[in-house]
Amino acid sequence: HKVDWDTSESELGSYSHFMEKEIFEQPNSLMNGMRGRFSDDGSTAVFGGLNLTPQELRQIDRILFLACGTAWHSCLVAEYLIERFARIPVEVEYASEFRYRNSPLDKNTLVIAISQSGETIDTLGALREAKRKGYRTLAINNSVGSTIARESDGGIYQHAGPEIGVASTKAFTSQIMICAMLALYLGRLRDLSYGDGVDIVKALKQVPEQVHAILKQNEKIEAIAKKYARYEDCLFLGRQLMFPIALEGALKLKEISYIHAEGYPAAEMKHGPIALICEECPSVFLATSGEIFQKSLANVQEVKARKGKVICIATAGCDLPEGLVDDIVIVPECHEIVQPILMSIPIQLFSYHVALARGCDVDKPRNLAKSVTVE
Ligand code: AGP
Repeated sequence: HKVDWDTSESELGSYSHFMEKEIFEQPNSLMNGMRGRFSDDGSTAVFGGLNLTPQELRQIDRILFLACGTAWHSCLVAEYLIERFARIPVEVEYASEFRYRNSPLDKNTLVIAISQSGETIDTLGALREAKRKGYRTLAINNSVGSTIARESDGGIYQHAGPEIGVASTKAFTSQIMICAMLALYLGRLRDLSYGDGVDIVKALKQVPEQVHAILKQNEKIEAIAKKYARYEDCLFLGRQLMFPIALEGALKLKEISYIHAEGYPAAEMKHGPIALICEECPSVFLATSGEIFQKSLANVQEVKARKGKVICIATAGCDLPEGLVDDIVIVPECHEIVQPILMSIPIQLFSYHVALARGCDVDKPRNLAKSVTVE
């Protein structure tokens, strides 16, 4: 089965690459994912295609997310958000691993597959295995009518529009948006208060405007990217919600620029990766204000003390000591539920510009296909 996107929607217009176009489309793709999906009282999300009643959803004791690549990083964000706001235990597995394991799952487990294309064979195989065992399955998917959408019991379409560039950008932020809304919805079925729900809905609605503001920093990020394009190694570090974004930053950089990059929870540095730090291995730090900020700051200092260059992507509320980092990109202060979306934009632009500076084909990186339909 092949999804045929409307070609008129797939044109480049004034952009040089699909990746660039898709990065800049994010205010719209995010808006489209939210359209018509908030309750009239403005305190929760509503989804038309879950095929599960609120009563059935309250019976769920555990959620298992399955995906590959970037979509797997979306699952990790979902884990943090659903556990935090809905207090439901979440597990995340690589679809390719789940499929051949015999994981003992609780009988009240809901299985959710995330896939942009809806055709990834590993994710489809894992979904079929979960269904065979009798679990209820949902899909978060961007391609209407895809195999994964058709074979799951229900789901949520991303409505991000066609994504042509091999490196996922707008599909990733749209998946996180859907997962944030799902966390809100499940939270409101349990203990999340009306007031907390209203705050989250307001925060989500501000995202397209905030993304638009971050995109205005494109030239600044391009200048930073050019400074670092010659390095052959790079670490991406972040804690809590920023850990999956660090993984995604590393994946984005490696797949389109062929720079060796790794993502870590910043505190794991001291358990090994810190040995890599030297003048030739820069680090991208993802710092958000909040309780963990002081700890992240200590991790930045550890890198600086070993002559590592630091590019910091920080939310506006972070109080970074003058001159501590080499380069900095500030994103607007926001509710924690939307931090993963906003913090993703600079890492996408950074990877895009690094890859261009190295003369790489950003839309069609070597050895990669947009949709991996073979095992
Ligand atoms: C992302 O930039 C990738 N090219 C890749 O990891 C992708 O996310 C993965 O293959 C999963 O694809 P899917 O979302 O279509 O299932």
